[in-house]
Amino acid sequence: MWRILQVIVLLVYSSVSYGSPFNRHAPLAVVFDHTGQLRESYDYIIAGGGTSGLVVANRLTENPRISVLVIERGYLDGQENGTSVPGLSVPTKYVRTDTSVPQKGLNNRTAPLYTGDVVGGGTVVNGMFFARGAAADYDAWEQLGNPGWGWDGLLPYFKKSETFTPPTAEIDDMFPGVISLDLEPHGLDGPVGSSFSNCQYPVIENFYAGWKSIGVAINPQPNNGEATGAFYSTMSAYAKNQSRAHASNAYYRPIAGARRNLHLIAGHSVSKINFGEKNRAVSVDFMSGTTNETSTVKADCEVILAAGAFRTPQILQLSGVGPEPLLSSLGIKTVVHLPGVGSNFQDQPTLYMQFRYGNYTFPTPDWIFSNASWAAEQLDIYYKNRTGIMTIPYLGGSTVAFLPLQNVTSDYQSLITSTSVNPSSLFPPSTHPSIIAGYIAQTELLRSIYLSSHTAVAEIAWEGGDTVPLAMIRPSSRGSININTTNPTSPPVIDFNTFSHPIDIAIAIASVKKIREWASSPPMRALGTIETFPGANVSSVAQIEQAIRNAATSSWQHPTSTTAMMKREWGGVVDAELRVYGTQGLRVVDAGVFPMSVAGHSSSSVYAVAEKAADIIKAAWI
Ligand SMILES: Cc1cc2nc3c(=O)[nH]c(=O)nc-3n(C[C@H](O)[C@H](O)[C@H](O)COP(=O)(O)OP(=O)(O)OC[C@H]3O[C@@H](n4cnc5c(N)ncnc54)[C@H](O)[C@@H]3O)c2cc1C
Ligand SMILES: *[C@@H]1O[C@H](CO)[C@@H](O)[C@H](O)[C@H]1NC(C)=O
Ligand SMILES: *[C@@H]1O[C@H](CO)[C@@H](O)[C@H](O)[C@H]1NC(C)=O
Ligand SMILES: *[C@@H]1O[C@H](CO)[C@@H](O)[C@H](O)[C@H]1NC(C)=O
Ligand SMILES: *[C@@H]1O[C@H](CO)[C@@H](O)[C@H](O)[C@H]1NC(C)=O
Ligand SMILES: *[C@@H]1O[C@H](CO)[C@@H](O)[C@H](O)[C@H]1NC(C)=O
Ligand SMILES: *[C@@H]1O[C@H](CO)[C@@H](O)[C@H](O)[C@H]1NC(C)=O
Ligand SMILES: *[C@@H]1O[C@H](CO)[C@@H](O)[C@H](O)[C@H]1NC(C)=O
Ligand SMILES: *[C@@H]1O[C@H](CO)[C@@H](O)[C@H](O)[C@H]1NC(C)=O
Ligand SMILES: *[C@@H]1O[C@H](CO)[C@@H](O)[C@H](O)[C@H]1NC(C)=O
Ligand SMILES: *[C@@H]1O[C@H](CO)[C@@H](O)[C@H](O)[C@H]1NC(C)=O
Repeated sequence: MWRILQVIVLLVYSSVSYGSPFNRHAPLAVVFDHTGQLRESYDYIIAGGGTSGLVVANRLTENPRISVLVIERGYLDGQENGTSVPGLSVPTKYVRTDTSVPQKGLNNRTAPLYTGDVVGGGTVVNGMFFARGAAADYDAWEQLGNPGWGWDGLLPYFKKSETFTPPTAEIDDMFPGVISLDLEPHGLDGPVGSSFSNCQYPVIENFYAGWKSIGVAINPQPNNGEATGAFYSTMSAYAKNQSRAHASNAYYRPIAGARRNLHLIAGHSVSKINFGEKNRAVSVDFMSGTTNETSTVKADCEVILAAGAFRTPQILQLSGVGPEPLLSSLGIKTVVHLPGVGSNFQDQPTLYMQFRYGNYTFPTPDWIFSNASWAAEQLDIYYKNRTGIMTIPYLGGSTVAFLPLQNVTSDYQSLITSTSVNPSSLFPPSTHPSIIAGYIAQTELLRSIYLSSHTAVAEIAWEGGDTVPLAMIRPSSRGSININTTNPTSPPVIDFNTFSHPIDIAIAIASVKKIREWASSPPMRALGTIETFPGANVSSVAQIEQAIRNAATSSWQHPTSTTAMMKREWGGVVDAELRVYGTQGLRVVDAGVFPMSVAGHSSSSVYAVAEKAADIIKAAWI
């Protein structure tokens, strides 16, 4: 039945979303590719039709009197199987790769930053891991001066964004006690599907047994604010058809044919916000990605920035909102001297350890690459039945351990004290004092987070194959995203500043040792587990440190915090209503507003933040 529905749904989409003829007064929220199709002004202009932008666009246009234009650099995805089948890699044309400057902490290697370049943004191309952070992580946001942004304030919005479906009986039976069937912390009728792959590799059982044997708790309910221990994560997929849920099919396509008050122009990038009296955002300039032709469109109420943590600071800086010394060095007239724009950049450095197994129960995840007949068989089962290995996210899986620092090492208190540094020493001497003040406020919270048993510092994932990613999810290091040219088509300079704070490398070293303890636990030994990278000969602390610096990457694909929601005197960029300081009619709603990263993956938090942002913006609409 669902397959028939799907065909109908696809037909409806393709007739309304594509090939719509030129029409100034186009009644539908179709994708435009030509500026002549737009109105002169809209109530709200949203820069970026990615994850957060589409949530806000959808919620605002629930009111038919509110008109919204979304301007998105990428194009609508073609609904290729690669964007919906969890086990397939997504088409590379939707992923953008940028490169950082050399990272001192990585022995001067550079690191890539991947972002979604498509309507729907990161969620169209991401790994579909869909667990929330810990309550303590969001409570820290609130403690940084943002009333209403703690766990209790955000939980209703996590729920509003999702439709959760518990695991199948088969999965539940496969891992008894590993997955809670409790619906309580979940939403049951939101746009984003949240569910479980309905198949798993049998050896995953050894992952749980291994952690359990070395004292790590199995956590059946990681979505109620206690996101620690070894757990089986929800993924962003619709349970019924086991296909990817992303912002475009959750928040855009269902209304694309119906709302006259929503326009979306694809293939265009916002290059500048124009300000009127009293620094009110009155219009934006935007450029065609094919011809570079620039147009202007007016905002009657507000401009909303949703270009992501990588690109929103660039738009602000190009518009004269940012650190005055940087702006004047590039000849940009300062509208608001706001030193925090582009600072406080956070991502989660990751080391990919490698193992092989001498006594493995087949099949292994590597068969997808090495056994063509098996891969084809599995795809066929998926298309016919929506079961099998292709329901597991590509190179992903959902089996993880999230470890608090005290569960990484019993020496955690001395690890904290021995790595303490003067916060100012981590920043260049010219750094604005407000940024250092905000960082000091964060480090005080980070200290209690590092001491807490209720939030994690390290994430270890295993899909049953050779690679075991280790992500340092609570970094103390802070990087930056800054422009170095007034040309809007040049990407801003990415500096992760990975491992600049000594606690980050110390946690990484301790985590590698912890993974080794897990890999040599009896349940993992029974698989004949052998570490191939860094390898048994890399054993002293100094050797492990060098292996990490020579091989880790800066990003776990969760860039955040470059336009932080914090007090202005703490280097914040937006207030607790997401308004950019010193301006009127200008907000930011993307992952850049997270004051600190959360001990989890970012997409579920981006959805929740954007849902809450939409409520705030609607309440202010007059
Ligand atoms: C490869 C990858 C894997 C990931 N894996 C996971 C995972 O497994 N689980 C998880 O929870 N999270 C994951 N994430 C992260 C998650 O998807 C992001 O945190 C989230 O999508 C960010 O939402 P956003 O709205 O802040 O930005 P985005 O979704 O990136 O949206 C920003 C949009 O703005 C557009 N844009 C940029 N500049 C301009 C401009 N100047 N004008 C107009 N438009 C512009 C971009 O094209 C993009 O569509 C992953 C991300 C990537 C890239
Ligand atoms: C795409 O998916 C459909 C089923 O949804 C399947 O019939 C078709 O063969 C797939 N296409 C490719 C190229 O694999
Ligand atoms: C990294 O580069 C800096 C500056 O060029 C240099 O001083 C340092 O020795 C380099 N470090 C390594 C490990 O190569
Ligand atoms: C961490 O260790 C403590 C004490 O040993 C234990 O009680 C707790 O369950 C562990 N937490 C996790 C997530 O494993
Ligand atoms: C799966 O189901 C969801 C929700 O019904 C729908 O939006 C989506 O388009 C479907 N995906 C596919 C590939 O069938
Ligand atoms: C658009 O601008 C970029 C950068 O300035 C340039 O490389 C490119 O050739 C331009 N494209 C067109 C069509 O003019
Ligand atoms: C490949 O997969 C098939 C099942 O499709 C299996 O019978 C065969 O043993 C596998 N071959 C190898 C080399 O693993
Ligand atoms: C098809 O799905 C059903 C349950 O959804 C399952 O019992 C059956 O084994 C599946 N068939 C194949 C070939 O995987
Ligand atoms: C900006 O920085 C990038 C990355 O370091 C560099 O490649 C580029 O040449 C710089 N551009 C200018 C105009 O300085
Ligand atoms: C290999 O795995 C089997 C089944 O899990 C187990 O019975 C056996 O003891 C293992 N062999 C070794 C050498 O660990
Ligand atoms: C460990 O052994 C590998 C492979 O034999 C070698 O490439 C590597 O340099 C060795 N590392 C150290 C620290 O000795």
